[in-house]
Amino acid sequence: MEKTTHPELSIQANIAQAETLPSYWYSRPEVVRDEKKQIFAKTWQLVGHLELVQKKGDFFTVEVAGEPLVILRDQDEKLQGFFNVCRHRGGPLAKGKGNCAALQCEYHSWTYALNGTLKFTPEFDGAECFSKENFSLRKIKIDTFGPLIFVNLLGSEPDLSTYIGEIAAEIQHIDLNSLTFFKRHIYEINCNWKVYVDNYLEGYHIPRVHPGLMREIDYSKYREDVRTYHSRQFAPIRNQNSIYKRNQEEGDTTGALYYWLFPNLMWNIYPDNLQFNIIMPDGPNKTLTIFDWYVPNNLTEKMQKDFEESFAFSHSVQQEDIWICEQVQKGLNSVSYDRGRYSVKRESALHHFHTLYAQYMNKP
Ligand code: FES
Ligand SMILES: [Fe+2]
Repeated sequence: MEKTTHPELSIQANIAQAETLPSYWYSRPEVVRDEKKQIFAKTWQLVGHLELVQKKGDFFTVEVAGEPLVILRDQDEKLQGFFNVCRHRGGPLAKGKGNCAALQCEYHSWTYALNGTLKFTPEFDGAECFSKENFSLRKIKIDTFGPLIFVNLLGSEPDLSTYIGEIAAEIQHIDLNSLTFFKRHIYEINCNWKVYVDNYLEGYHIPRVHPGLMREIDYSKYREDVRTYHSRQFAPIRNQNSIYKRNQEEGDTTGALYYWLFPNLMWNIYPDNLQFNIIMPDGPNKTLTIFDWYVPNNLTEKMQKDFEESFAFSHSVQQEDIWICEQVQKGLNSVSYDRGRYSVKRESALHHFHTLYAQYMNKP
């Protein structure tokens, strides 16, 4: 796939002088196509939980920026990831999730072993210069962080633990293995995926867009830290009776932690639950925002009730974000607008995202 020639993209390193990402990058179909190759295929993407692939033959399918994938546990109990694309004419091999002894294409039944080697090609005698060994499934790089499964489609550097960086040590107090998948909620939003990420990366909009949230946090102490491939936001909770404070020990100051991992993964960490948001482009003007909640596996009735309350609160904050993101997309599409400026105090994580974005899009 050839790269389109885009206008020159650069973000000034000095935030005080820098201009934001030009509106061109938020609206063009050819940008979405190149982002898949330059960004989504070259970064670590969260695709699921080990709960789904515990036994030999367990599999699940997933899409990353439109790329169909299958993740499975092979005959040697090894975790494997493949493009869910048959080497014959591109048919699908696996559907949904389940357990299987082999991968059989839904189109003409070519059959692959769980390690990806092609085993069976019905009615294919007579093809010249054809050998099954050369038609194994295309593998993807796969790794885990605790029980979380990540893939890197083109196997790009760095490795997953370097990519996650400081997050691992900073969330050590959370036993990821004791959390279990609880709920998924998908929001479809009429904006470019970067509008949603931009919005997540700054607390600057909280006073105006989220009056309810504003009452919960101490905005004057809101902080953002920028690292290599991620940034972190910290919001001290002001209200002692806040839903964010419940189930917390007296004097505990950990509060809520918000991590963003380039390009599209958010980890929202609360004292008694963990929520991931996966932001997936679906064309230039549409985004799927996938909210996955994990809760302790010994969930009590009280915790379940608290959780429902916290879900309802998060849902109302999300409605406010959806509304503003959809308006901003219209603004970015306007003939009157090209690019803006950053708040030095409040938009350093946003500037960091745009800088990484430019780096990845400009890679040869
Ligand atoms: S496309 Fe898979 S067998 Fe034909
Ligand atoms: Fe928001």
